[in-house]
Amino acid sequence: MTYLVTGGAGFIGSNFIHYILAKYGEGIRVVNIDALTYAGNLSNLKDVEGLKNYVFIKADICDEAKMKEIFDKYDPDYVVHFAAESHVDRSIKDPMAFIRTNVEGTGVLLNAAKRVWETKNGFKYGKRFLHVSTDEVYGSLPPDGDKYFTEGTPYDPHSPYSASKAGSDFLVKAYMDTYHFPANITNCSNNYGPYQFPEKLIPLMLNNALKGQRLPVYGDGKNIRDWLFVEDHAKAIDMVLREAEPFETYNIGGHNERENIYIVRLIIDTLREMLPAGDARKERLNYDLIQYVADRKGHDRRYAIDPSKIKKDLGWEPDTSFEDGIQKTVKWYLGHMEWMEQITSGDYMEYYEKMYGGI
Ligand code: NAD
Ligand code: DAU
Repeated sequence: MTYLVTGGAGFIGSNFIHYILAKYGEGIRVVNIDALTYAGNLSNLKDVEGLKNYVFIKADICDEAKMKEIFDKYDPDYVVHFAAESHVDRSIKDPMAFIRTNVEGTGVLLNAAKRVWETKNGFKYGKRFLHVSTDEVYGSLPPDGDKYFTEGTPYDPHSPYSASKAGSDFLVKAYMDTYHFPANITNCSNNYGPYQFPEKLIPLMLNNALKGQRLPVYGDGKNIRDWLFVEDHAKAIDMVLREAEPFETYNIGGHNERENIYIVRLIIDTLREMLPAGDARKERLNYDLIQYVADRKGHDRRYAIDPSKIKKDLGWEPDTSFEDGIQKTVKWYLGHMEWMEQITSGDYMEYYEKMYGGI
């Protein structure tokens, strides 16, 4: 069974690769295609790089000739498509990179898979393309109330990131409708956990808090996200691949809605609890580090997933509660300070200065 994973050197992709290799061992082969942009990091996969059933290929998913060559060579059973430009703030500053990778790159992969999977009598049995998407395609919910995103919620993306992901979802839908191309789409809520790049809320706050730097909270801090521990996302993706009917779409989320300001305070509290007495980092940690800054342009107010379809059809439920997930995540970052140091040197400083300079 060959899994072709795109974007496997990023946050969720690398967690997914760890998950399936731990679960299936030598029963599977994993081919990881990643362009190694600023977000891709091979040190996320250090412990699997020597395995004989793991292959890494540095390549851009927009490179048609290269994708054709890889699909011919490896003839994958499953394609799990994570590769994307994934950060909303970057999409507001530079939308074109998002349109290219997220829309064009997805189109190139769909064609590459169609070419090797299609026969005179339809598609080869058992092949599956899983397109990993986001709840942001549904737009924003009112802050209070009992509205949730379901699979039937109309698309209403607001940022260049979510619009480009919506575009890629529509391409996958079009291939399913037009060619009966065997695909699924998953739309997941905010992930957190090990190996997340510190441009996203939780690792950014952790990194800043440990360095005694300001914690920049956008707007009034009351925007709500629905948080899921990354391993539970990996589990859901693998269940959809192996057990779902083709053409189905699934929302993935664990009913963990929290205001941003709650998350930032929780990170401070958890670090204070975990750092040993006398550690200088502990002494300088307090809520005064929090600084409200200008709001993100077009900032969606609330995301919240209704996961009842994936629970009903596949029996998926998260294993990790939000409280345990945060404990595990903070512990992981404290135990991997060298990972954070490596990732926040060089280009990251430039990004941080451009984004947050002045605070
Ligand atoms: P990430 O930014 O951490 O990783 C993206 C990976 O894609 C990186 O390794 C990068 O090098 C690679 N990549 C980028 N452009 C490429 C290209 N042109 N060719 C090949 N590789 C390329 O992202 P993530 O947070 O791990 O998200 C993975 C996927 O999951 C994305 O499609 C994202 O939209 C989706 N998603 C993310 C979340 C979340 O909370 N992070 C939630 C729901 C869905
Ligand atoms: O909902 C799924 C999406 O979650 C994924 O599709 C995206 O790839 C992923 O980046 C994430 O998008 P968000 O924009 O929700 O995540 P981010 O971590 O950037 O921000 C979370 C919230 O925290 C959001 O309301 C903005 C706020 N925020 C973020 C940063 C980086 C701050 O207040 N300050 C910050 O410095």
